[in-house]
Formats: sequence, C-alpha cells, structure tokens
Amino acid sequence: MAKAKTQFICQNCGTVHSRWVGKCDGCGQWNTIVEEDPMGGIGSGPGKMPKKGRPVALTTLSGEIEEAPRIPTGLAELDRATGGGFVRGSAVLIGGDPGIGKSTLLMQAAAALSRNGHRVVYVSGEEAVAQVRLRAQRLNAADTDVLLAAETNVEDILATISEGKRPDLVIIDSIQTLWSDTADSAPGTVTQVRTGVQAMIRFAKQTGATMVLVGHVTKEGQIAGPRVVEHMVDAVLYFEGDRGHHYRILRTVKNRFGPTDEIGVFEMSDKGLREVANPSELFLGERNEKAPGAAVFAGMEGTRPVLVEVQALVAATALGTPRRAVVGWDSSRLAMILAVLEAHCGVRLGQHDVYLNVAGGYRITEPAADMAIASALVSSLAGVALPADCVYFGEISLSGAVRPVSHTAQRLKEAEKLGFSSAVLPTASPDLPKGNRKWGEIDSLPDLVARIAGS
Ligand code: TYD
Ligand code: MG
Repeated sequence: MAKAKTQFICQNCGTVHSRWVGKCDGCGQWNTIVEEDPMGGIGSGPGKMPKKGRPVALTTLSGEIEEAPRIPTGLAELDRATGGGFVRGSAVLIGGDPGIGKSTLLMQAAAALSRNGHRVVYVSGEEAVAQVRLRAQRLNAADTDVLLAAETNVEDILATISEGKRPDLVIIDSIQTLWSDTADSAPGTVTQVRTGVQAMIRFAKQTGATMVLVGHVTKEGQIAGPRVVEHMVDAVLYFEGDRGHHYRILRTVKNRFGPTDEIGVFEMSDKGLREVANPSELFLGERNEKAPGAAVFAGMEGTRPVLVEVQALVAATALGTPRRAVVGWDSSRLAMILAVLEAHCGVRLGQHDVYLNVAGGYRITEPAADMAIASALVSSLAGVALPADCVYFGEISLSGAVRPVSHTAQRLKEAEKLGFSSAVLPTASPDLPKGNRKWGEIDSLPDLVARIAGS
C-alpha cells in the first residue's frame, strides 16, 4: 500500500500547504504549520462498497416542509439569538474568549432544559466533574438532572452519550480538548478537532440530539485552530463582551435555521448570567449629558432597537502624525467619515488626534451610525455639547450626502420610550411616523456640521 500522504496544515486558519513553511500564506502567522494525516485515519481502509443514493425532485418535496423542530431553552435571550431555540439534530458552535462565560451560559441553559424534562448531557473536557458541579451550585442548577461527564476522547464520549435513553441536548465543552483514536495527529491540532467535531455532528444527525460545541477563540479572533469547524456546523454564535464590563452579547454569525442578525444580551452577576431585556437602558446607564463629543445612536440589532452612546475626543496633536484610535467601531469607516468632513465640510483634522469610543464596550456594525459618529466628532471639535434629548442615525456617503436607513419608526419608538424627544435623521426617511415630534431632517453632512456649529 502506498504511504499515506501527509499534509501541512496551518493551525490558525486551516490552510493546507504541500510542504512545511515557517509562515502561513493564508493568514500570515508564523510557526503555525503542523504536519498531519488529512484522512485522520477515517475512511482510508480498503473494501468499502459505494452506496447509490436516490436524488429527489424539488417539486415532490413541497407540501411536506415544516418548520425545523426546536427545543426552546426558556432563556429568552438565548432563544432569540438562535431564532427560537435549538434545532433538533443540528450542531451549534458557541465561540468566545476564554473566561467570557460560555460554560456559565451553557450550564444555565442545560439546567433550564432539564427542568423542562429534557435529557441533557454536559461533557466537560476542561474541568473535572466536581468543578462543573461547583459552578452549577453557584448557578442554582445543582438540583437538576443534567448529566455530567468529564471526557475528552471522542470514542469514549460517543459511548457515554449513546448509553441509555437518547439525549435531547449534548454540550461539548470544548472542541479544543477533543481527541480521537482514529486521527494520528496530536490533540488540539486541526485534524483532531475536525475529526472530533465530525463525529459529534454525525451523532446529532443520527439521533436527532442537538449538539452544542464550545470553541475558544484565539487573540486573532478566530476559533483557535479550526476555522474549518464554522463550515461544518449549522449555526455559529459568538459570546462577546469586555472583561471590564459586566454585560455579554451573544451574536449569531451563521444560522441555517434562522436569522443571523439577532443578539442576546446578558449581564454577568455573582449568580451567573442575567438576561437583559432592555439593552438600551444598560448602554445609556452612565451618560454624562453635558459633555461635548457624545451622541446617542439609535441602532438596530436584528429586529431589536438598541440605543447606545458614541463618544469622540478631538484634540490638537502633539505628534507629527496625528493618532486615530477606535473602540467599538470600524476604523476604516472612521477614516472615511474624517475624509468626508475634510473634503466637503472644510473641517480640518490633519493636526488633531481623534479618539472614538462606543460606550459600555459595545460594538456597532451598522453604517447607520455614521451620523451619530460625525455628530460626536464635530461636537467635540467645536466644544459644543449636543442636546441631551436627541438621537442620531443615518448613513453618510463619500459625496457627503446623508442616506436613509431602515427601521426608522422602530428606532424612533425606542428613543421615545427612553425619554428622547428629538432626532436628527436623513431627509426622506421611509416610514417616518406622523406627529408633532421634533425631527431634524438632514440631507448632507455640511448641513449637519452647520447645524451643530451654529447651535
Ligand atoms: P466561564 O463560564 O467559566 O467562561 P468560559 O467557559 O467562557 O471560559 O466564566 C468565567 C468567568 O465568569 C469567571 O471569570 C467567573 C465569572 N463568573 C461570574 O462572575 N459569576 C458566576 O456566577 C460564574 C459561574 C462565573
Ligand atoms: Mg469554560
């Protein structure tokens, strides 16, 4: 038999190389290439007869399509992020920095499901059973029927979860600890993780159990080693947050069975994660209304409006090259807004440092925040505080025009609910509610600058 051909796989991004190199072409990382057996020992044996499949016409399927059966966890914020609960027979990856609260969240979900009569197995490869139980006690989950197992070997795990009545939900904490006898590589390598995850997904498809896989993220923001895992699973959720703040956001980035723009918001307390039903109140909690450079952005996360404060500091620079530092917003988008301010509004920022921060450690991904960011920048530069009862939203184009964004009515409704009485928004915003409220309709960035500087 020919010698099995090995591959050289980058442990960070999964790029395959034909020979060992010091630096990965895929992600540019050094010393991440490891020699692995790509087949992982699986399927390389001789003598397997090919099985003929039977394709079905799409038309014959109509009529029998139904919603994927789901298991709601009862944690409203988690259910919102998954699109209504975990889908049976699916695999979900929950990624996040170490220590962010993944195990805590899943233990709470496990306890809630177990209380509703579901059979849940929690497989911990990172902590001993006693440690997991200790956490469960802290979370008031110790009195539930969640089954605990401390195992890392894929074959052992499969044997454990196949035993007895079939589970509704299996939690694997974490995929980085999985290792299989059938893969030759060292534990923690891409091949090992991929082989392990494949086996878990197969179990889920065969038994109809939901497989929840926990994955740690490296500093570069990728799930350590196997980004490949993202492609294999049905849904990918990231648990994010700032260590300095108590709240955590569960963000859906891939979902074969639901929306991908929903978030769940939680707050970490000494008794575990608490659901936050109204995130705006949280993000606006520490406002200083009289300071220049702060603007409230009326944003949307999926179907939910979220109000958050953006803070800018524009100050004369002491350095040759002015500094631009951004937290919670895209730095190239900031550069774009600064360029538009310079080119179309005569706002000179070449001799100024610019710092931008989204309050509470929150991260904004919507271009609709352009108007709030620009307002905060101009407010700081001019030393003029913006009206405290006003929210801002709208997208700014390179020409300096302000473009309408979606969900105008919802953004305004949320703002009103939280006591804001006016808004600066794009002219010709669709579905602008009628009434005698104070809208400041703006159609260009120079218009906005003139308005703030003139106030
Ligand atoms: P954990 O769920 O272990 O994180 P992960 O599995 O993502 O690595 O949570 C770790 C942090 O959460 C730890 O710093 C302690 C904190 N924590 C609380 O603040 N309250 C709690 O009730 C629990 C269980 C943890
Ligand atoms: Mg953990």
